[in-house]
Amino acid sequence: MAGPGAWGRIHLLLLSVSSWSLISAQDTKTIQVPENDPIEIPCAAYASQSGTARVEWKFEKGSSIALIYYDAKVTDPYKDRVTYTPTGIRFSSVTRKDTGKYICEVLWGTGQLRKSEVDLIVQVPPSKPVAKVPTSVTIGNKAVLTCTETDGSPPSTFQWYRDNILMPSNPKTSEKFRNSSYTIDTKTGVLTIEPVTSFDTGDYFCEAQNNVGTAQKSEVIHLEATEVNVGGIVAAVVVLLIVLALVAFGIWFAYSRGFFSKRRDSTNKQVIYSQPSNRSDGEFKQTSSFLV
Ligand SMILES: *[C@@H]1O[C@H](CO)[C@@H](O)[C@H](O)[C@H]1NC(C)=O
Repeated sequence: MAGPGAWGRIHLLLLSVSSWSLISAQDTKTIQVPENDPIEIPCAAYASQSGTARVEWKFEKGSSIALIYYDAKVTDPYKDRVTYTPTGIRFSSVTRKDTGKYICEVLWGTGQLRKSEVDLIVQVPPSKPVAKVPTSVTIGNKAVLTCTETDGSPPSTFQWYRDNILMPSNPKTSEKFRNSSYTIDTKTGVLTIEPVTSFDTGDYFCEAQNNVGTAQKSEVIHLEATEVNVGGIVAAVVVLLIVLALVAFGIWFAYSRGFFSKRRDSTNKQVIYSQPSNRSDGEFKQTSSFLV
């Protein structure tokens, strides 16, 4: 039920959103620096003009924002390793925690507010990734293999190997892998094999790499494609036996308590069975001979 006025407003909103993101994309610069190195983060918003200005620096990581330079001072958490100059801030040394967005806001004497951003990536080589591989998969089922490594900065990308041979992203392109059906997500490290066939049996490992340091390999894990789910059948039989045993025990228990004959022979036995039940062994002999 939107009239022409509403459509116009929506159109205007879309226009302003797209032009805003265009400007901020042009203003954002990415800097990569090895961990523990010094780095200067420039303030483009300041460099573009001259005159008197008030500058503020903010650090944004995920949903949290911290002040670095405010009220003409470097804030306490940063004062030991950050120095301020009008054209930028300088870290004497950076750690992986400093990865994030640095925002420089400049309020000029003329009243004009300008802002510029720098994405800082503190480079950290990948650590050894952890591969999760099912050791036994029934033929025809789906197998999901995962590879995880979170230290790498920029984030690692992943590759998979079977029997020491790199698995191509499209199995049909390779003589070795064309009998397999799988997909690999190099960003998340997930290898999905579907359906699993006997050709998928093998020794698997994954590798994590970014543009820093050397690629890291996971442990090797053997995956066996099995004809039938032997483990599942054994488990089902065991569960069935336990259920049967419980039912048999329940029937015996009810029977031994006279549950089934309760209605037919009513009075005398009931009295006998209502003897105190917390008797000791000695008393038990006595009462049982009394019963007989
Ligand atoms: C793929 O399957 C064909 C037909 O079953 C077989 O001849 C061939 O050896 C298989 N290739 C590999 C690499 O296992």
